Amino acid sequence: MQLDVFTLFPQWFDWFRTQRHVENAKRLGHTLDCVNYRDTTPLSGGQVDDTPFGGGAGMVLRVDVVEAALRARYGCDPVELRERRRVIVLTPGGRQLDDPLVDELAAEPEVTLLCGRYEGFDERIVEHFASDAISIGRYVLAGGELAAMVVADAVLRKLPGALGHVDSAHEESFSAALEGAPEYPHYTRPAEYRGWRIPDVLLSGHHRRIHDWRLEQSRERARAAASRDAAQRPAAGDRPED
Ligand code: ADE
Repeated sequence: MQLDVFTLFPQWFDWFRTQRHVENAKRLGHTLDCVNYRDTTPLSGGQVDDTPFGGGAGMVLRVDVVEAALRARYGCDPVELRERRRVIVLTPGGRQLDDPLVDELAAEPEVTLLCGRYEGFDERIVEHFASDAISIGRYVLAGGELAAMVVADAVLRKLPGALGHVDSAHEESFSAALEGAPEYPHYTRPAEYRGWRIPDVLLSGHHRRIHDWRLEQSRERARAAASRDAAQRPAAGDRPED
């Protein structure tokens, strides 16, 4: 996979690059490159953003600046680029990142992540240059960099060989192997600590029973999460739209 991140803060990714699964992915031939919008801005003084039309707080990343950066990198009109490459804007209102979406991205040969700053993107970037808009959660970050790192982390660790152990990304939370449920609990030595014993089944050496126990634990966690989410949802009549 060729993964490109467009940002005003490429140095934020210096630490991320040193993570073992990222280094493994690179050793396997995948790439992670950062492109600074400021390097190709057509505006003077390195300007990349502007005040919003109609007024309001903050600054908005300019469409001409993003076009110049995409053209310089890919040598084509960004309107056409998105036909052949996933070009993703990171924005709080986008499609929520989840395991199926991570799998989808991990299967792509080329992915571009566009980070916004300040008040975000001129909407024409989203409408005309992006193939997708992705959110990492219903809260607002100061910029897309941390969100891009979350996406990159989740995607790169899925690439075959990026994690040391082959099975590590197979039977994990939200995977198909666990029916999309959270992962079962893990324990390691000592088997007893301050009187807290680990479940006997894990010491039984009986693989079928261990597998069944783990699956049941995952299902139980899924049920608990569903009832917790239902309890958190406002009751009908309390919702602002009701
Ligand atoms: N940029 C700012 N907040 C974000 C979020 N929650 N998800 C993705 N990108 C963002």
